[in-house]
Amino acid sequence: MNLTTIILAAGKGTRMRSQLPKVLHSIGSKPLLRHVYDLSIGLENNTIHIVIGHGSEQVKKTLADLPVNWIEQPQQLGTGHAVQQVSSQIDDNSMVLILYGDVPLLQAETLQLLLSETNEKTLALLTVNLVNPTGYGRIVRDDSGKVLRIVEEKDATEIEKKIAEGNTGILAMQGKALKKWLSQLNNNNAQGEYYLTDIIALAVADGFEIATCSPESEDEVLGVNDKLQLAHLERVYQLQQAQNLMRQGVTLRDPTRFDLRGLLEVGQDVEIDVNVIFEGENRLGNNVNIGANCSIKNATIGDNVIVLANCVIEDAVIGANSRIGPFARLRPETILATDTHIGNFVEIKKSIIGQGSKINHLSYIGDSLIGKKVNIGAGTITCNYDGANKFQTIIEDGAFIGSDTQLVAPVTIGKNATIGAGSTITKDTPDNQLTLSRSKQMSLESWQRPVKKEKL
Ligand code: UD1
Ligand code: CA
Repeated sequence: MNLTTIILAAGKGTRMRSQLPKVLHSIGSKPLLRHVYDLSIGLENNTIHIVIGHGSEQVKKTLADLPVNWIEQPQQLGTGHAVQQVSSQIDDNSMVLILYGDVPLLQAETLQLLLSETNEKTLALLTVNLVNPTGYGRIVRDDSGKVLRIVEEKDATEIEKKIAEGNTGILAMQGKALKKWLSQLNNNNAQGEYYLTDIIALAVADGFEIATCSPESEDEVLGVNDKLQLAHLERVYQLQQAQNLMRQGVTLRDPTRFDLRGLLEVGQDVEIDVNVIFEGENRLGNNVNIGANCSIKNATIGDNVIVLANCVIEDAVIGANSRIGPFARLRPETILATDTHIGNFVEIKKSIIGQGSKINHLSYIGDSLIGKKVNIGAGTITCNYDGANKFQTIIEDGAFIGSDTQLVAPVTIGKNATIGAGSTITKDTPDNQLTLSRSKQMSLESWQRPVKKEKL
């Protein structure tokens, strides 16, 4: 069976109070519409149409990679009018599924259930019983429980408003029948809109069965209309991801204080403390331990690595058995080999640090190539920038850099070389020797500390 999915995404989203079209607002850093798209590509033999209107150019540009048929609805005259825009492209024999671009957390199982109810004589409708159904279309049934029609809140009588069963807006039916009903819609209602929901009564009149099913959780069918709902669904989504990770064996100290905005692949016995944020694509090996308040983006972290609290890591590779932080910052193109130690208030950018090397305190290492078993003393700075260009610092295996040293690039520190503390190194230094550049220490016997002048 061929499937046609129509995603409605033309609405303005006034209540978001934003310049950004509603469906481009994100959950887990992924636009709402992309969530819905990702769900629909999971369905077989599926042609996807997305109806856009408000901010359509921006929507298409942001989601240009989606292989879908974009359809413009220049004026938003209602959900029925939106689907009418696709009508001419619907194959009579296909099953048509209607989704909303602002309902991001629907689950694949729920869609499968809905589609399994759909056939040539049955329209399947996803409904939900709500404690507070205000704002939703209500499902009107006869005494035997048969669905008769949907009434929109604004058109409902006081009695109809008491119906707890709400319309999620998500439904599926045969293409041929849908096209017929679409051609029969009118806008004689409280909002002067072409309601898609009116097709239910038309289907009943044509002798169709209306099958209903419901999602496992209400959150699946919640739409985003304002920033409060966006925040609510963000937390729901994050909790789902946290639960997925825990099922994979990850220890999360507090699943409600965890954020994944992208992908996270994990090995065994990974432990993550509170308030850690992962963005982009991340991979953690076995026995990785991430401390509290870390922000980690596009990182590959090897086995047995310990990242202590308050580290910021981006586009970096950390070799196995390394220890990072607390308060370390690994900037893009940082590659740490195995067994490295990067301590507090150390910033590393575009550098390769060899196996077993240590940079434990207060340092800036940029554009550097550091060998194995190098020890970088506290307060060391690679001066990589002359105000116009960047230059490389090379530190060969076994070198020891004394504290508070400036290495003015381009410069190479030889193998097993030692640099005396407080040096400013501007020229290459030989292997094995001690190099230092500082004036001799002296004491002035006659010197006196200045004293404060008496006020007149
Ligand atoms: C709709 C349903 C209502 C249901 C509710 C669930 C109708 C008439 N009503 O109401 O029964 O309970 O959803 O949330 O269908 N859109 C377009 N073009 C338009 C109008 C809307 O693309 O001309 C899109 C919107 O971007 C949105 C979706 O359709 O994604 C729903 O539109 P919205 O205006 O939010 O419908 P509701 O009034 O909430
Ligand atoms: Ca809505």
